[in-house]
Amino acid sequence: MRIYKEKDYEAMSRRAANIIAAQVMLKPDCVLGLATGSSPIGAYECLVGQYRVGDLDFAAVRTVNLDEYKGLGAGDEQSYVNFMNENLFSKINIAKENTNVPNGLNEDADGECARYDEVIAGMGGIDLQLLGIGNNGHIGFNEPAESFAKGTHEVRLTENTREANARFFSSLDKVPTAAYTMGIQSIMQAKTILLIASGKAKAQAVRDAFCGPITPQVPASVLQLHPDVILVGDEEALSLM
Ligand code: F6R
Repeated sequence: MRIYKEKDYEAMSRRAANIIAAQVMLKPDCVLGLATGSSPIGAYECLVGQYRVGDLDFAAVRTVNLDEYKGLGAGDEQSYVNFMNENLFSKINIAKENTNVPNGLNEDADGECARYDEVIAGMGGIDLQLLGIGNNGHIGFNEPAESFAKGTHEVRLTENTREANARFFSSLDKVPTAAYTMGIQSIMQAKTILLIASGKAKAQAVRDAFCGPITPQVPASVLQLHPDVILVGDEEALSLM
């Protein structure tokens, strides 16, 4: 495992973007697993900057996102597909058909989850998976549970997660109660995992994930079993390590 302790959010974002950029340069047709939320916004901005000055080419890159709120789609401002379009896809030369986000508007959970697992398998695996971490140690929307869920599945969001994400919505009751998320197995099969964390609120979760026992009660703790994990955090997020 490699750990980069950076001064602040900006430095964390630059470091993360450089690792993603190196992946794209080394393998222009790589598969990137992507995340949403506050953590990756700065890294996406850096990648857009590198693309604009001609240092990066996304023409052959394929992407697969971790998760989507159930009931939200591209037309919803808070959907993750919209987040990705606004923060990254519309600002780089990636082909729309090479990007994948679970379809939150598909009410057939079994059908959507099976479809998404086929998409991931059809891509031949993920080269680099970007992850944020929830205050409760979740990765994707794999919430603390009795066991690690393998494939894409529907999940009930915990109150902790809904409250943490309410800042993106006009009120807590607007935060969806369910989501589709990639499973732990798909995440663990990525060749390299890049987890980013910023701020004091993440410090305990980061410590529990990397210094505590491996348990589905702290979903990110499974990453201790992965052979190639890169943790990039700012000083506050890594303060308890
Ligand atoms: C988002 C995702 C979540 C977030 C996590 C941290 O696609 O999978 O696991 O990474 O909730 O969110 P932020 O970055 O907003 O603190």
